[in-house]
Amino acid sequence: MNILILGSGGREHTIAWKIAPSDKCRNLFVAPGNSGTAKIATNVPVSVTDFEAIKAVVLNNKIMMVVVGPEDPLVLGIHDFFLADEALKNVAVIGPQKAAAELEGSKEFAKEFLYKHNIPTAAYECFNAKTVEKGYAFLDTLKPPYVLKADGLAAGKGVVILNDIDEAKAELKAMLIDAKFGTASTKVVIEEFLDGIELSCFVLTDGKNYKILPTAKDYKRIGEGDTGLNTGGMGAVSPVPFADEAFMSKIRERIVIPTINGLQKDNLPYKGFVFIGLIKVGDDPKVIEYNVRLGDPETEVVLPRLKNDLVTLFQAVANQTLDKITLEIDERAATTVMLVSGGYPEAYEKGKEITGLENIEGSIAFHAGAQVEDNKIVTSGGRVMAITSYGTTYQEAIKKSYQNIEKLHFDKMNYRKDIGFDL
Ligand code: AMP
Ligand code: GLY
Repeated sequence: MNILILGSGGREHTIAWKIAPSDKCRNLFVAPGNSGTAKIATNVPVSVTDFEAIKAVVLNNKIMMVVVGPEDPLVLGIHDFFLADEALKNVAVIGPQKAAAELEGSKEFAKEFLYKHNIPTAAYECFNAKTVEKGYAFLDTLKPPYVLKADGLAAGKGVVILNDIDEAKAELKAMLIDAKFGTASTKVVIEEFLDGIELSCFVLTDGKNYKILPTAKDYKRIGEGDTGLNTGGMGAVSPVPFADEAFMSKIRERIVIPTINGLQKDNLPYKGFVFIGLIKVGDDPKVIEYNVRLGDPETEVVLPRLKNDLVTLFQAVANQTLDKITLEIDERAATTVMLVSGGYPEAYEKGKEITGLENIEGSIAFHAGAQVEDNKIVTSGGRVMAITSYGTTYQEAIKKSYQNIEKLHFDKMNYRKDIGFDL
């Protein structure tokens, strides 16, 4: 069948890399794609939120499956758009419907869901411009650090953690009164700070059945030792060594099963990936957030460890027969290191030629913010490329990634040299 992937990051290149060799995939398209997907699929210059243009691509190319990479089209209701259209309703869409995508689209909605289904998470309250004074009073009852979250999508920047009570109150005012994140901060969730080590758990569900994919840990801060500004993610490791069988069984029993049951009870139609952001507090997992898609760069270590044919898995999701499938996971560890443009996550330059890719041995370069221009591969974003390697241990894998990075170059290339340092 013909398949379309929506998105243009390292995540989408990895999904394309996994789908392209499948016997079940005839023609693969990526919208809009990048220089990595251009090599293994056909890129189509269409925005992931332009549903009418996507419809035309699907009909013109007889596409029967659409895999949605990022959250925006899901929160905007792309799955519902397909179901409501006579010509598109039989196309399989991998990604939840709009009502369920609110788990990522609204932090308040996610917290209400977690509480309602008794899933462990941080205590919280939600405020708006009218209740800002109550928000200040609530902050006074908490101990630092203070965690403030813009309710809506804010391109990964909507969570602010502050140590000083006056700064926390000023931030609450900036979000609610001064619309710091536009309409995304019309409401703000203030929650208890959870102290522990983070990991991500990825679940594929058909709405009834579920499969837990390998765990991963990403490194969000720009600086070594987890310092400096937040980024989309600077590297990742899978599996997470501290997520042993006892801990995974707590995640399954206390979090994954109640989440899948909760989706059904609340009538939230879900055929896709659930990304559960977790924090290990003492010996117990608590949910920090839900995302309704795969993580980036976690995908770059999770999918390479999945041995199953991804198209077969997605067909089972579409047909609600995921219970018939057994996941096969590569025993090896996988790690990835993200190469970023100098200056990222603040201002950076684009259009820098990337050289040395042909010299990579034993690693995979998943392209992110990179495009083909005049037959050259040039940077086009902050996060440029994720270098993934396998190893018997994550230490061995990470060494391989760093050895290959030595062979790569672009002007002002930056990356973290300590991925996995805390494991
Ligand atoms: P999010 O945008 O929801 O992924 O949050 C960004 C980051 O903020 C998370 O990855 C955590 O590191 C941190 N964070 C969010 N909520 C909490 C919390 N309740 N306690 C401690 N850290 C948190
Ligand atoms: N790496 C975190 C995310 O994809 O949201």
